[in-house]
Amino acid sequence: MEVEGLKGKAAELARSLIEEKLPVHVAFIMDGNGRWAQKRGFPRVKGHERGAKTLRRVVKVSARLGIKYVTAFSFSKENWNRPREEVDFLLNLLRRYLKNEVGTLKKHRIKLKIAGDKEELPEDIQEKIEKAEKETSSGDRLELILALNYGGRAEILKAAKGMAEEDEFSMEAFRRHLYLPYVPDPDLLIRTSGEMRISNFLLWQIAYTELYFTPVLWPDFSDEEYIKALLDYQRRERRFGRI
Ligand code: IPE
Ligand code: IPE
Ligand code: MG
Repeated sequence: MEVEGLKGKAAELARSLIEEKLPVHVAFIMDGNGRWAQKRGFPRVKGHERGAKTLRRVVKVSARLGIKYVTAFSFSKENWNRPREEVDFLLNLLRRYLKNEVGTLKKHRIKLKIAGDKEELPEDIQEKIEKAEKETSSGDRLELILALNYGGRAEILKAAKGMAEEDEFSMEAFRRHLYLPYVPDPDLLIRTSGEMRISNFLLWQIAYTELYFTPVLWPDFSDEEYIKALLDYQRRERRFGRI
């Protein structure tokens, strides 16, 4: 494929991508921001700032590739257990993102959605989210899902609770109670920073997702790394239990 905006090795590698075999939904565990900063003698939060830039670039490239859904694990339920200053920095980064990026998202027809327990977030953030979701709701090119105050088990528990209102006890009924029921399961999940774990992300949805782990730290996750992950994905044989 020729992908607009790609340069050098990334552009060269992208030529081997098969458009028809691209994932529809790619999920990211954006890990390694803290280590990226510490390695350079910066405070951890510097890594989060750089990480936000990486996300911006990944979203742009995804849109250009024609990927329809990108889910980014931005803040987990467990992340509240970090030092107060780091949590505050992350919340402020989110405030900044919601304020500054909405215009760009709208312009590029990108719809923003949040998955997670929004009602536990500070009220001003809830308002900013509502506004951003509303303003970008007509986006039809790509849907960007930020998993915020998200936990896979909490989502499953919420859906289980929702089942009380259902007459039918089926997978379809259960799915209706997930945060974003209409979103197809991820085809590919990419985790950076070398950790080979799921950390309570999308537990229900990743039943048949292809997993890709890279030692690259999230702020260093380049276009080239992204294309490499997509090429790896395209070499896999998805079987869904069949022969
Ligand atoms: C991921 O980077 C970002 C968030 C969890 C918000 P980390 O902050 O977990 O970075 P490491 O894993 O400590 O390097
Ligand atoms: C997962 O990364 C959460 C996000 C990327 C937001 P963590 O860094 O929190 O996960 P663990 O603690 O290494 O499992
Ligand atoms: Mg981490």
